[in-house]
Amino acid sequence: MQKPLTAVLVGAGNRADVYARVSLSHPDKLKIVGIVDPDPVRRGLMRDKYNVDEQNCFENVGEFVSRGRFADAVINGTMDKLHVKTSLPILEAGYDMLLEKPFAVNEAEMNELVMTARCHNRRVVVCHVLRYTDFYRAVRSHVDSGELGDIISVEMCEHVNYHHMAVSYVRGKWRSEEMCGAPMLLAKSCHDIDIMLWLMKGAASSPSPVFVSSFGGDFQFGPSRKPDGAGTRCMADCPLMNECIFSAKANYLDAVRWTQYVWKPLEGKGEPTYEDKARSLATDNPYGRCVWDFDRGANVDHQSVMISFSNGAVGTFSMTGGSAKSERNIHIVGTRGELKGTFEDSRYVVRTMAPSTRTGYEERE
Ligand SMILES: NC(=O)c1ccc[n+]([C@@H]2O[C@H](COP(=O)([O-])OP(=O)(O)OC[C@H]3O[C@@H](n4cnc5c(N)ncnc54)[C@H](O)[C@@H]3O)[C@@H](O)[C@H]2O)c1
Repeated sequence: MQKPLTAVLVGAGNRADVYARVSLSHPDKLKIVGIVDPDPVRRGLMRDKYNVDEQNCFENVGEFVSRGRFADAVINGTMDKLHVKTSLPILEAGYDMLLEKPFAVNEAEMNELVMTARCHNRRVVVCHVLRYTDFYRAVRSHVDSGELGDIISVEMCEHVNYHHMAVSYVRGKWRSEEMCGAPMLLAKSCHDIDIMLWLMKGAASSPSPVFVSSFGGDFQFGPSRKPDGAGTRCMADCPLMNECIFSAKANYLDAVRWTQYVWKPLEGKGEPTYEDKARSLATDNPYGRCVWDFDRGANVDHQSVMISFSNGAVGTFSMTGGSAKSERNIHIVGTRGELKGTFEDSRYVVRTMAPSTRTGYEERE
């Protein structure tokens, strides 16, 4: 029998836990053998969940790498602006790595990471998880096969629903570049831009991006847009609690959304009751605050990007935070046909030119 890959979790938060769960469902494939996290609560929870030896649990990367290499790989699930800082000593210590996105938050960091990985002959796999979905793999196979002809344009959009927008990019950890190191376009939609470039790699001449233009802004948030009479916390002093779409009560208590973020302040204190949660939102939980009171710096809630490719093709992408439903759409137009689909529905149609038909095209799902 093959031995499982052994891995150390660095930044043992939500995402690292998502990947580490594979070790429970497929113990023959993955075994978690170490944890690095400065948060003692998180370290203890993950140590017990994955049955990790206490001597392999570390407060920081320095302590971890000074032990010498004792696993095959690292799963780096730290927050955005710690990705490169934590990765460099780990690569230097000889580990291959699964690294969360965005793998760097600026160009200098990006170059440093790439150079270090090359210099130490290490592999870094970035968690651009969309690439591995059935939907985008199938879309790419239509580009690769050449049936759409030469790709003229790729139009893509991502709609981030209002409660996701509020929990992550207003109340949450990704609210401002100052806080997490990445503006919303990079934090949320690096996946989509990656998909566009990855799809174009499959196109006939494998064109590279040569020019980029982009603009966006904050349309909905900030103190100047706060409704008259709104309070500071939904469940403490806000008369609009029952009508506001961002109500903490409606979204986190009644509808039980985003538990991995909202109840983090209560982690390690036993199973919280409804009353514990209500008290937390009414007092010191950041997810209980009014969405219009946050300082988001210069962060956007919508942004559009145009990319010009070396063969003259164009890619456009629009991210809009605040839709009713989250949705990613794609429309690829080539010289022989087109593909149009929606990721959330896992459906797309392919249309090819057919001059002899009534419509002028043939369509199939
Ligand atoms: N691929 C995806 O689709 C996807 C989805 C969501 C989030 N993410 C990314 O995953 C990353 C983590 O997000 P999360 O919600 O799991 O965050 P999290 O806050 O739950 O986890 C981060 C962990 O890192 C620990 N930490 C802090 N400083 C550290 C240090 N110096 N060394 C080691 N550990 C340290 C924290 O204590 C925490 O436990 C982010 O970069 C986010 O953008 C990716």
